[in-house]
Amino acid sequence: MKSVVLIKLWRLWCGMLLIMAFSAFSHAATISIACGSVGMELELCREGTKAWSEKTGHSVKLISTPTTSNELLALYQHILLVQSDQLDVLQIDVIWPGMLHNHFLDMTGHVQPEAYFPALIQNNTVNGRLVAIPWFTDAGVLYYRKDLLKKYGKQVPETWEALTRTAKHVQQAERSAGNNQLWGYVWQGRAYEGLTCDALEWIHSYRGGTFLNSDGKVDINNPQALKALTMARGWIGFISPEDVLKYMEEESRVIFQAGNAVFMRNWPYAWSLLQSKESPVREQVGVAALPKGGAAGQHSGTLGGWQLAVSKYSKAPELAIDLVKYLTSYEEQKRRAIKGSFNPTIKALYQDKDVLEAVPFFGSLYNTFANSVARPSTPIGEQYPAASKIIYRNIHAMLAGQQEIKPGLAELESRLEQLLNR
Ligand code: GLC
Repeated sequence: MKSVVLIKLWRLWCGMLLIMAFSAFSHAATISIACGSVGMELELCREGTKAWSEKTGHSVKLISTPTTSNELLALYQHILLVQSDQLDVLQIDVIWPGMLHNHFLDMTGHVQPEAYFPALIQNNTVNGRLVAIPWFTDAGVLYYRKDLLKKYGKQVPETWEALTRTAKHVQQAERSAGNNQLWGYVWQGRAYEGLTCDALEWIHSYRGGTFLNSDGKVDINNPQALKALTMARGWIGFISPEDVLKYMEEESRVIFQAGNAVFMRNWPYAWSLLQSKESPVREQVGVAALPKGGAAGQHSGTLGGWQLAVSKYSKAPELAIDLVKYLTSYEEQKRRAIKGSFNPTIKALYQDKDVLEAVPFFGSLYNTFANSVARPSTPIGEQYPAASKIIYRNIHAMLAGQQEIKPGLAELESRLEQLLNR
């Protein structure tokens, strides 16, 4: 008799469990997120969102996006303009919060802002609203081949002049020995947002400013910028292939990783790929601050990086915020730092020994990250994408030899002035 009752109770309990599971399932939502796709980005995003799905029972749809920041912005602007609810979470560039903030929810109170770099929280706070949570930060760095520098008794270059000399020396010596594919220096020369970043580094390293001065006036037609761009123009076809004018981050990384360049300018993400098991240059690569513009110059790395924002048009804002909290948390940023060398935005992770072991330069180049130089997106505001387009197109024309640098700078100055005075 007792066992019959027990069996009945057991069945009732199982039935209840089934109903509970079903109702939980029927409430499961799908959150869509647009993640970047450079290097390991998509893979890490897939893993991170999958872990959140398993934890919460909700699914996540990954939306594939263009690889360049400027093309992605154009796509977002379209989606946000029509107030589409098809995109809940957006990965946004550090230069966009001031421009897109009206479309995002305020996430104040959802994370502890003091855990993050204050400059990033400030960058993402518009009119008192925290419109995006910093996911990873970036600064341009110099990758070099330790083995080649050692072979030719050369030091890591402190100045661009030294980089040019060393790159030339090693390239010539290696080519005479039959290593015909080798180039001295690869970087990002295509006409896109990445060229604005590279050019800012050259110009700022020569103390030629950041396109605008502190009064908000255009400051590009100056002797230091002339020096910087003349130097970069001189690399092409000499220590850098002509094709560098078509390279973005991944093109330069692939050449460097194949063992075909002595130096490379790139963001930190390249490190884990260069160190991967299949990489021909594994254990042969060092990372340093980008060189100074002459002895009187300064080391400059452009500030980059990406944030997560929740669309105001999302149908599931609470869940979308929960996903953002998960992805930007200490543990998930730690996983991404170790596996993908994405710079954390949480200060304490720069003291985490597992992180420092996987990416030693997060410690040794801490100052480069802390002092990186920002593009003028805050002072320029809404007009920044148009200004950057003028910058990268004009500089590209000068580098490609379609225009002389001196008149090119005067033209760049007047175009920027026209845009900003409009
Ligand atoms: C990196 C930076 C981003 C920058 C882009 C340019 O993704 O994080 O801020 O705009 O490169 O290519």
